[in-house]
Amino acid sequence: MEFFVSTAAPSRQRTDCAIVGVYEKGVLTETAHALDRRIGGRIAKLVKRGDIRGKAGETLLITDVDGAASERVLIVGLGPRASFKRKQYRKALASALGAIGRTGARNAVSYLGLEEIPDGDSYSLARAAAEVVGNAQYRIPDHKTTNKRPKSTLTKFGVAVASRADRAHAERGLTHGQGIVAGMSLMRDLANHPANVCTPSYLSNAAKALARDYPDIRVRVLNEAECRRLKMGSFLSVTHGSEEPARLIVLEYQGTARKANPTVLVGKGVTFDTGGISLKPPSNMDEMKFDMSGAASVLGTFKAVAELELSVNLVGVVPACENMPSGRATKPGDIVKSMSGQTIEVLNTDAEGRLILCDAITYARRFNPDAIIDIATLTGACVIALGNHYSGLFSNDDELSAALKAAGERADDRAWPMPIGEEYAEQLKSNFADFANVGGREGGAITAACFLGKFTEGLRWAHLDIAGTAFLGGSQKGSTGRPVPLLVDYLLNK
Ligand code: BES
Ligand code: MN
Ligand code: ZN
Repeated sequence: MEFFVSTAAPSRQRTDCAIVGVYEKGVLTETAHALDRRIGGRIAKLVKRGDIRGKAGETLLITDVDGAASERVLIVGLGPRASFKRKQYRKALASALGAIGRTGARNAVSYLGLEEIPDGDSYSLARAAAEVVGNAQYRIPDHKTTNKRPKSTLTKFGVAVASRADRAHAERGLTHGQGIVAGMSLMRDLANHPANVCTPSYLSNAAKALARDYPDIRVRVLNEAECRRLKMGSFLSVTHGSEEPARLIVLEYQGTARKANPTVLVGKGVTFDTGGISLKPPSNMDEMKFDMSGAASVLGTFKAVAELELSVNLVGVVPACENMPSGRATKPGDIVKSMSGQTIEVLNTDAEGRLILCDAITYARRFNPDAIIDIATLTGACVIALGNHYSGLFSNDDELSAALKAAGERADDRAWPMPIGEEYAEQLKSNFADFANVGGREGGAITAACFLGKFTEGLRWAHLDIAGTAFLGGSQKGSTGRPVPLLVDYLLNK
């Protein structure tokens, strides 16, 4: 997809489709009005007839419009003027793209978002536009032999700005949005693959492919013997029941002075989570192919950062394995020794994410991180607490937490701060080891974070629980690409 910024008036824009907005109660936007004057009041007439009322998500296509240089005009409902913000802008654009997808248009120019919006400057709207368009073009790497969703015919998309002064900002927004989409698409591809395709070795190869495509990225993959030598007893206990070899994937991106301490991203890479001996119930277990979404978000963020050539140093650490039951699997009550030297009583083999993350975090200390952010589909309890809208944000550093929260807001990929602390950590007490890997049902997302907190002493650390946000279930089942936008925004603003 090619993107561009336009400063042409809507009536003079040569394009297959000009997109203009109408607010609720049929109030024309200024650009719709300006266009309408050139085309003999057709839009106002359609509004008057009740063919389009301006309700959010409505669309009406008109063709062969005398007086306009465009082949089509798509009128899009924006909802009430007073509540039109970036979120509604994204929705309106998504509806427009749906309608354009049903035509043969090869290019289009959007005139949405040109009027004052509280949270929408030309940079952030252009960035949002590139994301919405890019994500609308995304196709699941499916295995359908019939009824495949056709590729879109759209190859060029323009974003109109109100004045020439906005051009450079919008161009920057389009560039950043395209980088974010590239990262999200990689994440979505990896996470959407079934677990018999996307294995730990597959993730390793995907990381190596990144290193081939971008000279600033280096990748090293450690096998199980190497992890054993590093004494990663906790990580390795999770893979015991699986025939599929585990991997520790280490990525490095150098975008600034070598001596600058890197941000380290640690991503949970459980390519399938059956629960192990603490076996999960059958319903929706297929969704546990998405349990490597944290890992996929790390690879996606690397792709975006390398694509945008950001001036940051970044390290990725991805522990990748399957969690399977078998005669060799870890059993409830087993005690394992983590790389940090601390011992863990595994009371529930389904709380495996924290067991692989803790060793990856300990390993990450060798990079002297400026900050370490782990990303994991860690707990069902987080989904109960926050639903699908916010990722859970836990941290031992208020400044880091605030920076990540702000990044999520700017990126429309929000995270909500959750507490951690000694009161909760007490739930992890064990009679047999330094602590247990579970702390009961109450505050489940928090006790999981507290478990990780036992391995982050002296580090600036944050944990994103993306169990509710990384993928959707039901008829929309699939990876969302979150939290790549949040992570890239955080790095853009460093
Ligand atoms: N991968 C799951 C968490 C999960 C649940 C992610 C639903 C996405 C959607 C994790 O490994 C897990 O099983 N957690 C347990 C922890 C419990 C045993 C303390 C859970 O949430 O039930
Ligand atoms: Mn589990
Ligand atoms: Zn899991």
